[in-house]
Amino acid sequence: MDSVPFPIRTLISSHFTNLSQKSQITMESFLQPRKSHIIGIIATILILGSVGIRVAECRAARRLASIDYPAISCRKHSAVLTDFGGVGDGKTSNTKAFQSAISNLSQYASDGGGQLIVPSGKWLTGSFNLTSHFTLFLHKDAVLLGSQDESEWPLLPVLPSYGRGRDAPNGRFSSLIFGTNLTDVIVTGNNGTIDGQGSSWWDKFHKDQLNVTRPYLVEIMYSDQIQISNITLINSPSWVVHPIYSSNVIINGLTILAPVDSPNTDGINPDSCTNVRIEDCYIVSGDDCIAVKSGWDEYGIKFGMPTQHLVIRRITCISPDSATIALGSEMSGGINDVRAEDITAINTESGVRIKTAVGRGAYVKDIFVRRMTLNTMKYVFWMTGSYGSHPGPGFDPKALPNITGINYRDVTANNVTYSARLDGIEGNPFTGICISNVTITLTENPKKLQWNCTNVEGVTSNVTPQPCDLLPLKEKIDCPFPDDKLPIENVQFKTCSSSNF
Ligand SMILES: *[C@@H]1O[C@H](CO)[C@@H](O)[C@H](O)[C@H]1NC(C)=O
Ligand SMILES: *[C@@H]1O[C@H](CO)[C@@H](O)[C@H](O)[C@H]1NC(C)=O
Ligand SMILES: *[C@@H]1O[C@H](CO)[C@@H](O)[C@H](O)[C@H]1NC(C)=O
Ligand SMILES: *[C@@H]1O[C@H](CO)[C@@H](O)[C@H](O)[C@H]1NC(C)=O
Ligand SMILES: *[C@@H]1O[C@H](CO)[C@@H](O)[C@H](O)[C@H]1NC(C)=O
Ligand SMILES: *[C@@H]1O[C@H](CO)[C@@H](O)[C@H](O)[C@H]1NC(C)=O
Ligand SMILES: *[C@@H]1O[C@H](CO)[C@@H](O)[C@H](O)[C@H]1NC(C)=O
Ligand SMILES: *[C@@H]1O[C@H](CO)[C@@H](O)[C@H](O)[C@H]1NC(C)=O
Ligand SMILES: *[C@@H]1O[C@H](CO)[C@@H](O)[C@H](O)[C@H]1NC(C)=O
Ligand SMILES: *[C@@H]1O[C@H](CO)[C@@H](O)[C@H](O)[C@H]1NC(C)=O
Repeated sequence: MDSVPFPIRTLISSHFTNLSQKSQITMESFLQPRKSHIIGIIATILILGSVGIRVAECRAARRLASIDYPAISCRKHSAVLTDFGGVGDGKTSNTKAFQSAISNLSQYASDGGGQLIVPSGKWLTGSFNLTSHFTLFLHKDAVLLGSQDESEWPLLPVLPSYGRGRDAPNGRFSSLIFGTNLTDVIVTGNNGTIDGQGSSWWDKFHKDQLNVTRPYLVEIMYSDQIQISNITLINSPSWVVHPIYSSNVIINGLTILAPVDSPNTDGINPDSCTNVRIEDCYIVSGDDCIAVKSGWDEYGIKFGMPTQHLVIRRITCISPDSATIALGSEMSGGINDVRAEDITAINTESGVRIKTAVGRGAYVKDIFVRRMTLNTMKYVFWMTGSYGSHPGPGFDPKALPNITGINYRDVTANNVTYSARLDGIEGNPFTGICISNVTITLTENPKKLQWNCTNVEGVTSNVTPQPCDLLPLKEKIDCPFPDDKLPIENVQFKTCSSSNF
């Protein structure tokens, strides 16, 4: 392919990128202007002759190299970033190429949808917006590099359920990959990479030089039918994947990596979302591997949008200073019906942790966790009712969170410092805690007070070491885990095709 002249390469690319359906530039329209000139015709015939052979070769090569990938929807139209002036040299900005490619493909929203392939290469870019009925596909050797130039990151207003930015009160930078008010949007690949190049942002954070909140790597808001899968996301400036005010979200096959001392690099943060499935992800991060959220104090209470019907399974987490899965601390729209299973954590501060505070209001209830395998943990169980961290002085001290129906079963943990630190709110205990079939092996020099419980109520069964008096041991209780499936668990993937550039 390298010897084919540029316009013809573009033509071939456009023509054969999409193996199933028509492309945008046809052979006919490309040749049309030359027809009136005899020389043109001869040239055309000559070109066609050689192209014909190459097309045949390419077609065969492409067919062989085309890869199948699982997705909630396949797309009729397909294009490659280079069709829109993309340059994969790691230096040229591709922000405009992404924007014009996606804007071009958005015209197919009601005609089978569009797919944008990012081929092998290093693609420097600022923030760009996704569109509906659209797939962004990253080739395995494609690396998106987040721009270091702040002007490449447009500003957005603060999130209504937060009332302010988390780093600074004013606006926030748009995420590298951003989408709002969309239906049916996919970010996938055969393990291509998105590198946020976050270190300059982490420096600014540490030096207190931010007056706008840092960008995330992927944020999709007010959207329905979202898939984010089979890619590697590294060095995010802050949170990594943030679906918010959305429904029917599938996140799977992600590798998320950030230095364990990088600030606020939470892996996946489902926030005020309904029907979410997160599975088969490997996360190493400087903050919670998964943080389930729903808005902050008076702003979250007013917005009133919970996160609910969330399944998390087959996750591996490494996060020495944070939780495997955190519920909160921002939970002011409520969190309910969370099902987490087959969770592995290594060298992580805690398992499934609840973080809340007076002023948050709302609730965390009907939480079900089973089959956790943990190794080298500070805490197996940790709940905190005094997390603090308010958006401002305007929070309502009477807005007490209701934490109830929290169930853990079938847990094995090794090399543990503290079995549990369960700290409810005085006068507003955390209730309905159930912990069963748990075997904890302690570190060489374990702490004396293994179960430190205040303001909590519940039961335990078949748990070692012996729990606190507030969670008395009962005979033969299996803490509940729902038998039914959530609708999002029944969503099947189709097999789609992408040529493998
Ligand atoms: C964008 O779409 C139009 C069809 O509406 C097509 O003619 C045009 O060539 C496309 N642009 C590029 C750069 O492919
Ligand atoms: C991306 O979406 C945001 C929010 O709707 C909007 O403010 C911004 O202008 C969009 N950017 C582009 C390049 O369209
Ligand atoms: C996106 O959806 C939200 C919630 O429905 C709505 O308030 C907002 O106006 C919409 N934004 C756009 C740009 O359509
Ligand atoms: C994807 O890439 C990451 C980073 O290179 C690697 O650790 C991971 O094993 C890869 N995943 C798959 C499924 O190949
Ligand atoms: C903070 O914002 C002001 C304007 O709003 C700007 O002039 C200044 O450069 C910003 N400071 C930093 C450190 O970004
Ligand atoms: C995506 O990841 C899943 C497992 O998470 C795997 O079964 C599937 O083959 C992967 N697909 C591609 C195209 O890499
Ligand atoms: C056990 O945990 C301690 C920290 O408490 C750690 O330093 C040590 O390496 C761990 N040992 C093993 C065998 O993982
Ligand atoms: C907390 O929620 C539970 C379950 O919804 C309910 O029974 C209980 O009354 C609530 N407690 C408070 C203090 O509101
Ligand atoms: C107890 O939990 C372990 C995993 O930690 C599991 O293998 C075992 O089957 C569970 N026992 C019961 C009775 O459920
Ligand atoms: C027990 O927990 C309380 C509240 O979280 C804390 O203040 C106290 O220091 C803990 N005690 C020990 C001995 O760890």
